[in-house]
Amino acid sequence: MFQRFRRTRLNKHLRALVRETHVSTDDFIYPLFVRSGEDIKTEVASMPGVYQMSIDVAVKECQELKELGIYSIILFGIPDVKDSIGSDALCEHGIIASAVREIKKAHPDMFVVTDLCFCEYTDHGHCGIIDEVHETVDNDATLEISGQQAIVHAKAGADMIAPSGMMDGIIQTVRTSLDNAGYKDLPIMSYSTKFASGYYGPFRDVAESTPSFGDRASYQMDPANRREAIAESISDEAQGADILMVKPALAYLDIVREIKDNTSLPMAVYNVSGEYAMLKFAGMNDLIDYERVVMETMIAFKRAGADIIISYHAKEVAKMLNNNR
Ligand code: PBG
Ligand code: ZN
Repeated sequence: MFQRFRRTRLNKHLRALVRETHVSTDDFIYPLFVRSGEDIKTEVASMPGVYQMSIDVAVKECQELKELGIYSIILFGIPDVKDSIGSDALCEHGIIASAVREIKKAHPDMFVVTDLCFCEYTDHGHCGIIDEVHETVDNDATLEISGQQAIVHAKAGADMIAPSGMMDGIIQTVRTSLDNAGYKDLPIMSYSTKFASGYYGPFRDVAESTPSFGDRASYQMDPANRREAIAESISDEAQGADILMVKPALAYLDIVREIKDNTSLPMAVYNVSGEYAMLKFAGMNDLIDYERVVMETMIAFKRAGADIIISYHAKEVAKMLNNNR
């Protein structure tokens, strides 16, 4: 006696009835890169379809996103001036604060997440204040200014704050700063398990955040470590994170599943720049059926346990989903 698994595969409506995993436009957060100026829309060579935009263009982009059914974005800022501590990120008239304010003014119904880090704002490209002696980022000095950055985002009107620098204690620090400033209901999405990854290459082109010396291995995680990956996320849950994240996504789906099984918090994956570029260039060269592979990849994220997908493919996926209605 054997089971006839194929019986439920023979009819497409039956296949839809028994499908275990679904992808929806509600699942997505779309990354936007903003810089100063007007009417600027510069395509990134390593990420066709992804642009650096001036704020006015980003505001128009949000209209397009809403029409596609995408209401959540995560903002990255590219400042005019970088310095050793990333002052632009601490300034109420810096690029991120300005972008949040103008986007929320034009689109109060948009859900605006801010990435909280310093690498786009520092002249050395690292994610915080440098400890010259140890040639790494000074954890606790960076915590102090991270609390300030969180308040700048909150005052500008951010709907959720996403610390991405992998400093120990960052969630507790940001939570306390927000609470003390009266932002008790502002949620934190932690980049809780973030690996030191080669897949971030194209992002560093668009965000202009490549480290000028060394790498990020002294603060981001070793891709080889599974137990530590779980512990990082669980620690952020204990510190008060509202949403956990694994980043990159594709090569780490085992970690997504394992954290999911050990938390009751919602989980996000960050489908990073290098993952986007691989599919994009394979598609452009007719090596794969691009749309099919993109959708298969999104389903894999959901199946592994992700509730939220941060992806440069979000607009394309929304178009596919809308066409199949
Ligand atoms: C910076 C940051 C990075 C990404 C988001 N925030 C990368 C890095 O560590 O350089 C990666 C996004 C991507 O590759 O798409 N803290
Ligand atoms: Zn950073």
